Amino acid sequence: MANSQLYPLEVNPRTGEPFLRLKNHKTIIITPPRQEDTALYPAIMNDPRIYEWLGSPPSPYTADHAEAWYARVKATSDGALKDLEAAQESSDLILVGDCPVRAIREMKEDGTDIFIGDIGIMRSAGGKLMAPADADDDQKAKHAEENAARKLGDPKIAWTVGYYIIPSYHGRGIMTDALQTLLWEWAVPRMGVRYIVASAFEGNEGSLGVFRKNGFVQTRIIENHIETRGQWRNLTVMEWNMPGAEARPNSDSPDQ
Ligand SMILES: CC(C)(COP(=O)(O)OP(=O)(O)OC[C@H]1O[C@@H](n2cnc3c(N)ncnc32)[C@H](O)[C@@H]1OP(=O)(O)O)[C@@H](O)C(=O)NCCC(=O)NCCS
Repeated sequence: MANSQLYPLEVNPRTGEPFLRLKNHKTIIITPPRQEDTALYPAIMNDPRIYEWLGSPPSPYTADHAEAWYARVKATSDGALKDLEAAQESSDLILVGDCPVRAIREMKEDGTDIFIGDIGIMRSAGGKLMAPADADDDQKAKHAEENAARKLGDPKIAWTVGYYIIPSYHGRGIMTDALQTLLWEWAVPRMGVRYIVASAFEGNEGSLGVFRKNGFVQTRIIENHIETRGQWRNLTVMEWNMPGAEARPNSDSPDQ
């Protein structure tokens, strides 16, 4: 019998793999990453329609980068599954620090599926986004340290989100649905997420649209945030507070 701690994830009866089905796009599911996905990452990450809007993946993106990324996300997914496994005797659903699923796949009628994108919700490590605009480097580092130290379940934890979807699937409402589903089905109830600080390069209307449609609001622009391929990029900071949840972390600090 499947571990009830996986709720609301479903389990593929054939492969035993857990998955989350999107609320509105019923043929789209989110699963753990798979080794076979690594063969696809380089072509996706070397496509200008993708890398143009991402600050962190290396460019050009090689098979080694793909393996390193896979090792990281697989370890995160496995860690969450291990915690859920360890709690399977508990009658209450536990909170976990990560999400076991992140690879977005379209299911075909013949039962196969294809990898079409990625979405991750994780604890924010970026002091720059969490600290006030005029904070110096020490203050930013302190915000990052405090956020890392907060106990799971603390509504003041700042989380963040990152995503992409392959270009042939853009503009069909899939990422709006993926974020909505992952946020409300897993992040809020199973990770205790109450506050998210995310960002997109200025001008990334697709990403800003996804955030806005999920109730994120723009709080500021960080000018000249990063230089990518010789171009300085401004960053649009988008924040989300769960309706009815406590105020965001910075709002009750005496140094605001
Ligand atoms: C950003 C991204 C994930 C959006 O995914 P998507 O599934 O195409 O987004 P949606 O279809 O849910 O669109 C959300 C909203 O933004 C709008 N939108 C989407 N792409 C747009 C674009 N290129 N220009 C203007 N608006 C756009 C949509 O029209 C929609 O609003 P609407 O419902 O009012 O029409 C996708 O474009 C992508 O992967 N881009 C490259 C990587 C990236 O930017 N990642 C995010 C980094 S912060």
